[in-house]
Amino acid sequence: MTEETVACDVENGIAWVRFNRPDKRNCMNPALNRRMMEVLDELEFRDDVGVLVLSGEGSAWSAGMDLKEYFRETEAKGLGAIRKAQSEAYGWWRRLRWYGKPTIAMVNGWCFGGGYGPLFACDLAFAADEAQFALSEINWGILPGGGATKVVVDLLSMRDAMYHALTGELIDGRKAAAWKLVNESLPLADLKARVTEVATLLLKKNPIALKATKDAIRRVAEMTYDNAEDYLVRAQEAANSHDNEGRKEGIRQFIDEKSYKPGLGTYDK
Ligand code: ACO
Repeated sequence: MTEETVACDVENGIAWVRFNRPDKRNCMNPALNRRMMEVLDELEFRDDVGVLVLSGEGSAWSAGMDLKEYFRETEAKGLGAIRKAQSEAYGWWRRLRWYGKPTIAMVNGWCFGGGYGPLFACDLAFAADEAQFALSEINWGILPGGGATKVVVDLLSMRDAMYHALTGELIDGRKAAAWKLVNESLPLADLKARVTEVATLLLKKNPIALKATKDAIRRVAEMTYDNAEDYLVRAQEAANSHDNEGRKEGIRQFIDEKSYKPGLGTYDK
C-alpha cells in the first residue's frame, strides 16, 4: 500500500500542502520526495491556485531526511541509488525555489537538517514561536549537506551560521526570526491566520509581476550591480510581453481613474 506522504487542499486560491508523515515527524523518505514533486507539478499551473503554503501534519514541519530510508537503506543499494534519492529530493526543492507561484513555508514544529532545503526554497517563511530548528547533522556525524550549509550562509550572519552548524543546538521560532532564517515568528495558535493574511495579500497582486519579482530577488543576489540592472530591464520586458495588460491597468486606475494609490495598496485586478 502506498503511504499518503503528502496532503493537500486548495481553498480560496491557496494550496495548503503538508508533509504528511506525522508518525515519523514528517522526515523525508524517497516516497515523500517523489510524491511532493508530483503534487507541485499538479498545482503549479492550476488557475485556482495563486499561492502555495508548505506546512506539516502533527508536531513537525519536517525532521529532515529519513535516516533509515533515505540514508541507510539507500546507501545499502549502492551509489546509483544514492544519486537517485538525492536527485529526487533536490529536484523538488529546486522546483519549489523557482515555482510559478509565490510560496510560503508555515513552520509549525520541528525543522531539521534537510528541511532547510524546502524552507529556503519557499519565498517567505513564518514560524511558530514553539517551532524548533537545528542543523543536527553534526549530532550524528555528517556535515550539513543537501544545500543546508548554503542556506544558512545565505540567510544568517557568518557567526550565527557557524555556531548553528557546529553545535547542532536547537533554536526556537523567535530566534529563527531574529537570525532571519524566517520572516516572522508568532504563537502557533496565530500562525495559520497570519499566513492566510499574507497569502491573501499576495493573491491580490499581479501574478506575472509576482513571478518576475521572486525570480529577480533570487537571481540578482549573485550579480554585480550592472549585471542586475541589465537582467532586470530584460526581465521586465519579458514580463510585459506575457500578455500582461495588468500593468497598463495599474497605471490607468491610478492616473486616470484615481481609484487607488500604488504607494498604499494594489490595483483592482
Ligand atoms: N529519520 C528517520 N526516522 C525519524 C526521523 C528521521 N529524521 N525523525 C523522526 N523519526 C522517527 C523516529 O525514529 C520514530 O520512529 P518509530 O515510531 O518507528 O520509533 C518516529 O519518527 C517518532 O520520532 P520520536 O523520536 O519518537 O519523536 P519525538 O517527538 O520524541 O522527537 C525529534 C522528535 C526531536 C524530531 C526526533 O524524532 C529526532 O531527533 N529526529 C531526528 C531529527 C534529525 O536530526 N534529522 C536529521 C537531520 S540531518 C538531515 O536531514 C540530512
